[in-house]
Amino acid sequence: MRVLVTGGAGFIGSHLSERLLGAGHDIIIIDNFNEFYEPQLKRRNFAAVAAAARTGQGDVTLCEGDIRDGEFVAAIFTQEAPEAVVHLAAAAGVRPSIQDPLFYEEVNVRGTMLLLEAARKAGVRPFVLASSSSVYGDNPKVPFSEEDSVDNPISPYAATKKAAELICHTYHHLYRMNIACLRFFTVYGPRQRPDLAINKFTRLIDAGETIPFYGDGTTSRDYTYIDDIIDGVERALDWVCGDEPRYDIFNLGESRPVELGRLVETIEKALGTKARIERLPLQPGDVQRTYADLAKSTAILGYCPKTSIEEGIRAYVRWYRENQER
Ligand SMILES: NC(=O)c1ccc[n+]([C@@H]2O[C@H](COP(=O)([O-])OP(=O)(O)OC[C@H]3O[C@@H](n4cnc5c(N)ncnc54)[C@H](O)[C@@H]3O)[C@@H](O)[C@H]2O)c1
Repeated sequence: MRVLVTGGAGFIGSHLSERLLGAGHDIIIIDNFNEFYEPQLKRRNFAAVAAAARTGQGDVTLCEGDIRDGEFVAAIFTQEAPEAVVHLAAAAGVRPSIQDPLFYEEVNVRGTMLLLEAARKAGVRPFVLASSSSVYGDNPKVPFSEEDSVDNPISPYAATKKAAELICHTYHHLYRMNIACLRFFTVYGPRQRPDLAINKFTRLIDAGETIPFYGDGTTSRDYTYIDDIIDGVERALDWVCGDEPRYDIFNLGESRPVELGRLVETIEKALGTKARIERLPLQPGDVQRTYADLAKSTAILGYCPKTSIEEGIRAYVRWYRENQER
């Protein structure tokens, strides 16, 4: 199958592209290598994908450009003839979305609509959207179920992800597109974005620098190892390739929340270095906890994550040591 992966040079997109190439699919990547974090890191991610294409069964085509450019996106559907879409490109991150909400709206809402329009016009029905656990806001009920209300997002990022889920539903309803919206719970592992806590903490602790520690250490996150997420995305891609028109929302997490204090201890242990901590107040937009209920994604997709935080952090630190020049 020919799969269009938007954001394919990013953290999750590059892992997914490698996995799909290994399974014999041809990949078309859209990425604009923007400066949200060092574009050089994304070039290296893409180099790894290109290397996987040389050794695997599938081919990769890179289309460098912006999903907000409707003509560019439409031309890719005409020229490259994808048969399915995994839409990962986005303006990511909660805190920066508070600084620049309109940019988040442009990329995450308008960009998603342009892709859906191009897919619809080209008759491409299978579509997977990267959503986020942030849509749950400060949900008091745990674990977070897909049935819970997500009407109270507390950051522009979360609101744009919820908007993208809604637009996907509209395209499913009107045009019988098959769509899975995947709510990722904090993803980590090799190539993790530098703005995310595990990457940032590992670098700072290793350099003997102080880490910012927001709140009293009891906030918790359902950290999800990259291999488990990729397994879930692959399963969702199979699901959207089914015959009957379908739309659904799935949590992809570990369902094992970890408090911030324990996260820091786990990284300290893996690095063999004690952290220097600067205690700071909780940041606007940050939620108290995330915790995925996986009953639905297990029942429908067969999703079954395997990686404990200890195992995942050890694997991350191993990769960090081998790639320190990054
Ligand atoms: N990493 C997480 O913990 C996490 C959690 C929840 C949801 N998500 C979602 O998963 C997806 C992938 O996240 P990631 O962590 O791999 O991020 P990432 O920033 O590493 O990857 C996103 C890629 O998209 C590209 N991109 C961004 N805007 C673009 C545009 N306008 N046109 C073309 N390309 C563009 C970037 O250059 C980047 O390579 C995003 O939709 C994100 O919101 C991630």
